[in-house]
Amino acid sequence: MLRTHTCGELRTSHIGQHVTLCGWVDTYRDHKGVVFVDLRDRYGKTQIVFSSDNGQELHQIGRSLRPEYVIQVTGLVERRPEGTENPKLATGEIEVRAEQCCILNRANVHPFLPSTPDLPGEEVRLRYRYIDLRRPQMQQILLLRHRMIKVMRDYFDEHGFIEVETPMLGRSTPEGARDYLVPSRIQKGTFYALPQSPQLYKQILMVAGYDRYMQIARCFRDEDLRADRQPEFTQLDLEMSFVQADDVMGIVEGLMARLFREILGQELTLPLPRMTYDEAMERFGHDAPDLRFGMELTDITAIAAECDFRVFREAAENSKRVRGITVPGGANRYSRKQIDELTEWVKQDFGAKGLVWFRVEPEGTLNSTVAKNFTASQLEAIRAKMGAQPTDLLLFVADDFEITCKALYGLRKRFGAELKLYDPRAMHLSWVVEFPMFAIDEEEGGWTSMHHPFTAPRPQDRELLKTDPGKCRAQAYDLVLNGTEVGGGTIRIHDSELQQEVFQLLGIDEAKAKDRFGFLLEALQYGAPPHGGIALGVDRLVAIFAGVDSIRDCIAFPKTQRAVDLMTGAPSEVDPKQLRELGIKIEK
Ligand code: AMO
Ligand code: AMP
Repeated sequence: MLRTHTCGELRTSHIGQHVTLCGWVDTYRDHKGVVFVDLRDRYGKTQIVFSSDNGQELHQIGRSLRPEYVIQVTGLVERRPEGTENPKLATGEIEVRAEQCCILNRANVHPFLPSTPDLPGEEVRLRYRYIDLRRPQMQQILLLRHRMIKVMRDYFDEHGFIEVETPMLGRSTPEGARDYLVPSRIQKGTFYALPQSPQLYKQILMVAGYDRYMQIARCFRDEDLRADRQPEFTQLDLEMSFVQADDVMGIVEGLMARLFREILGQELTLPLPRMTYDEAMERFGHDAPDLRFGMELTDITAIAAECDFRVFREAAENSKRVRGITVPGGANRYSRKQIDELTEWVKQDFGAKGLVWFRVEPEGTLNSTVAKNFTASQLEAIRAKMGAQPTDLLLFVADDFEITCKALYGLRKRFGAELKLYDPRAMHLSWVVEFPMFAIDEEEGGWTSMHHPFTAPRPQDRELLKTDPGKCRAQAYDLVLNGTEVGGGTIRIHDSELQQEVFQLLGIDEAKAKDRFGFLLEALQYGAPPHGGIALGVDRLVAIFAGVDSIRDCIAFPKTQRAVDLMTGAPSEVDPKQLRELGIKIEK
């Protein structure tokens, strides 16, 4: 080894020892002939002192150092002079008096320094990712990620799961996003699809008798990117045989308790709370509700039906809904102008037609430009139903259920953050269950799977497949942490007849089903056990555990919102020869 210790290791107990450290020059100060360097590696920082007492040549080397040079220093560990200790550093009571120094590598002037308090924009950070990854905060996140994945692997190993790797080059999988395709050279004109998840393979593994499978699996989805979505991301994927939903949820709860204990030092109370999909939509307007704070959605359609306010009454008469939220203290905090801006926002972003507001006056009456359309007792009924207090602001949307959900969910989320309605360190974990089997396909009409087409209906809803598919509920469960969907899974269909029936409902005819999923349908006819599973989004879990907003900060080499790797320049054009070999012509 080129070093005897790391830069985070030395304490007062090492005083008097000669040590050798290697690392990067983090900061550099020249104090009238004495040069102080903070030497950094991923374990920490140690102060090195170069003084002319140890020879002119060494002192000159010390003076020639620049930020981010990589050096090797041998020296004597000494106690820092009284009053110069640095309590912020673990090594802050000692320093190393240099006796020898070797510059292992010089560095260009950096576009930014890992120690900078003002980070440059994300583009620069991603372009020079190796500099960004030197930052202690990034190193801590990647270390956290490593530890979380280790806990996952250990936990599942102890519970009899085996990790099986599934192919990257495969057939299109049914997660519903766009595929990344890989052209075949040997069979020109054909393509592999990168897996959107290992879904079909893990089901086949159950048919093959593997009983308990897990994998830290890379998944690829060509979809619109956001802070919590990357084109390639990592799942903790698992599948189990001879189980019901409760068994899969139980195994995941055990894992989460372990992660909470070992990573956060918190005890998680089990079993986790559960809420049905319908309840989540009714109370929070979303299937991944943030339960760290209240501010639930309230329905006033019945009161609206009686009033003279056209917008409300017509909504009620046309089977739409009038729902709202109570913003605590919002009457004083939000000006008319700000409410107008919120109104524009819910129109633009969620397709609402407007926003009706009421301020609760100190004496408890409701004040608004539209108040004249309501009787005093109607206003009081609204106030009571909303549980509103003086100084609260009430906001209402009248529309289809879906639009009231989207707009009020958006408002609730925004106020939750803006008004700091929760402790940012709080962690709230829960399940949402009993999802609908199907949703209406906005683009093509007809039904589409809410999760994926292999999801089993609840046994008691099986007949609804024939009579009223929209009412049919699935044996599906999503894990929600602080308002983010961190996992989703289902009990699967293990009966090929039922599978055909579901395909039919989804408009996947026999020929298409055979073409796309024939191998699975066939496998289901060769002794398939009842089975089910789930996948957790590892990047999202790490982001929330690390307390960062974007999963890009939890991935060593992420892509931008435009799916570009700014460091390597991927995706890029390729050599014409490669295209010829693949039989591909590019149309520009
Ligand atoms: P699903 O599509 O719900 O289920 O994915 C499981 C979890 O993966 C995470 N996730 C993502 N994370 C980052 N970037 C993305 N683009 C992204 N997409 C999804 C989410 C999500 O909850 N095969 C099924 C699982 C099963 O049924 O067992 C599946 O993939 O946290
Ligand atoms: P209008 O009658 O269109 O002038 O609207 C009167 C008020 O009601 C305005 O403040 C609008 O923002 C609001 N508004 C209109 N339509 C809706 C709706 N569907 N839901 C909630 N508020 C609405």
